[in-house]
Amino acid sequence: MVVIAVDGPSGSGKSSVSRQVARRLRLAYLDTGAMYRAATLWCVERGEDLADARAVAHAVRVMPLEMGLDPAAPIVVLEGRDVSAAIRSTEISTAVSAVATNLEVRAELRRRQRQIIEAETRPGGFSDGAGIVAEGRDITTVVAPDADARVLLTASEEARLRRRSLEVHGADDAAAVEATKDQVLRRDRDDATVSQFHVAADGVVTVDSSELDLDQTVEAVLAVVAQVTAS
Ligand code: DC
Repeated sequence: MVVIAVDGPSGSGKSSVSRQVARRLRLAYLDTGAMYRAATLWCVERGEDLADARAVAHAVRVMPLEMGLDPAAPIVVLEGRDVSAAIRSTEISTAVSAVATNLEVRAELRRRQRQIIEAETRPGGFSDGAGIVAEGRDITTVVAPDADARVLLTASEEARLRRRSLEVHGADDAAAVEATKDQVLRRDRDDATVSQFHVAADGVVTVDSSELDLDQTVEAVLAVVAQVTAS
């Protein structure tokens, strides 16, 4: 059984890397950012005022969310509907920080995340007890500080903007990068108010992916896991 925690800012490549690592090691995969996105969609659809912290927290506590843990197809199911695409819309990407900075929401989602991780360390879950790769912003520090391997995936601002720009605009020329800049930097700033994911906590290994492609980054993370789990 192995629990691997991966944190990093947007554009660090942590979702693609974490999924690949989970596939290679035949582990479950949990995208905690998708849970904050699903919570945002749930509140928006119910017409909640996102500035009303108590109403938002209450709504999230009763949210019927199921997280698919298959790294080949990590679907997100809300009240029986597959919302995997809907949670990636610009509207939700813009609104999500308001929900992710709500401390009661964080407490509720962290509780659910710990439950999911714990279940994968026992027989019967997706991985049948093999373990899980969980990624987000506060997994190495708050959700799973006892994980077997803890990795902070970083990348230079330039590399992160280029990747996000390719993802959102399908191009990484100067104009496309500039158009992505405000959104990425503003979100990083907002997100950093609740969790310090730019700095590696004690015992967390930093992998800088600025000069690495996806495969090389996956190999680097696998090397950290091999080293930490061997000792
Ligand atoms: O990684 P992402 O872009 O899908 O994350 C969506 C939002 O959720 C982003 O604003 C950061 C926030 N988040 C968080 O606060 N804590 C986590 N563990 C994961 C994501």
